[in-house]
Amino acid sequence: MKHISERELQLPEAQIGRLLKIAAEDKSIISMSVGEPDFLTPKPLLSYAKTIINKSTHYSPTSGIHELKEAIVKKLKKDNKINLSPENIMVSCGSQQAIFTALLSTVDPGEQVIIPNPSYLAYIPAIDLVNGTPIYFKLDQENNFEINPDKIKEVIDKKKSEVLIINTPSNPTGTVISKKILEEIADIAVENDLYVFSDEAYEKLIYDKKHVSIGSLNGMQDYVVTFHTFSKSYAMCGFRLGFAAGPKKLIEAMSKVSHYVVLAPPTLSQLIGVKALSLPNKYVNVMVKEYKRRRNFLVKRLNEINLETKMPDGAFYAFSSIKNYSNNSNNFAEKILKKAKVAVVPGTEFGRYGEGFIRFSYATNYSLIEKAIDRLEKFLKKKSNSLA
Ligand SMILES: Cc1ncc(COP(=O)(O)O)c(C=O)c1O
Repeated sequence: MKHISERELQLPEAQIGRLLKIAAEDKSIISMSVGEPDFLTPKPLLSYAKTIINKSTHYSPTSGIHELKEAIVKKLKKDNKINLSPENIMVSCGSQQAIFTALLSTVDPGEQVIIPNPSYLAYIPAIDLVNGTPIYFKLDQENNFEINPDKIKEVIDKKKSEVLIINTPSNPTGTVISKKILEEIADIAVENDLYVFSDEAYEKLIYDKKHVSIGSLNGMQDYVVTFHTFSKSYAMCGFRLGFAAGPKKLIEAMSKVSHYVVLAPPTLSQLIGVKALSLPNKYVNVMVKEYKRRRNFLVKRLNEINLETKMPDGAFYAFSSIKNYSNNSNNFAEKILKKAKVAVVPGTEFGRYGEGFIRFSYATNYSLIEKAIDRLEKFLKKKSNSLA
């Protein structure tokens, strides 16, 4: 047998993949596990796609077509108060590719990348794949999963720490980072000469608060790389389109790396991306209104059935404590999958401090959410003594 690399063998097996497979095979399961909008891509984009298919058969430049980069520059200025030029933009196959490429371009083996814990499940494997060392700072439920900047300071090693990743609104907690905390993080980055990778995948899926980009703060242009995606705001997951905005030199390095990995992002998706950025807000507003309705219902019901859940400010996740039933989120998720036929993601998928929690995605039809919680309520009432 030809061998598989150690690098690959050491990668964690994503539970979410296994859960999705089980949920797809057993139609009686209600899946609240996926991080993908249940909405269709806005109709004008789908109609437009049909008209440009013949223009989309060639490779694009590695860092993206100029027309899209110009549209992104305008978007960043208007939505994010970030003033950059097309040479500061690299278009990518989803923001995940951009984040991975940025890590490949900044982290040497053994160097440290500081991340919140719990946080988006792709960060740790990506850091491992570039032979970096992930270093965690804990987010506490008592503190609404907000970042405590002192905890970042505690884990910085001036010689080895290269990058700090933040994510607002957060997957899996839904927490939105305030301007005040972003300012403190910015000071820490400058003092310690750290890159800040700001993952803003859910920037438009925000309910009561305002989204602030750390890249808009004074003096941060040389330190911040901002990552955006078309997957969530425009329900364009399948088109695989995202981008990074950052210092010119780093963006050039990332484009060089990207050339050898994906060659270029899909031309068709980029042309649709230009159109997406010109859409009126009503398309995203419809989704946000419905996510908010689901959020309000879901969080109320979860608390009623003793799965303590704070009200998330953004994204489409509820992160619930299971402490009234169990201290093992993997076992708990497995049990409710098999017995209550509801699929959720165990908190440990998001890092070790996710233990004791499960993540619900409310990118799920309202009536299915109602049904799922009814099933859970029935199951937990019956089984509350035998779940530990
Ligand atoms: C926080 C966060 N960042 C990045 C991504 C990657 O999204 P995409 O590659 O589709 O842009 C996701 C996907 O769920 C996410 O939740």
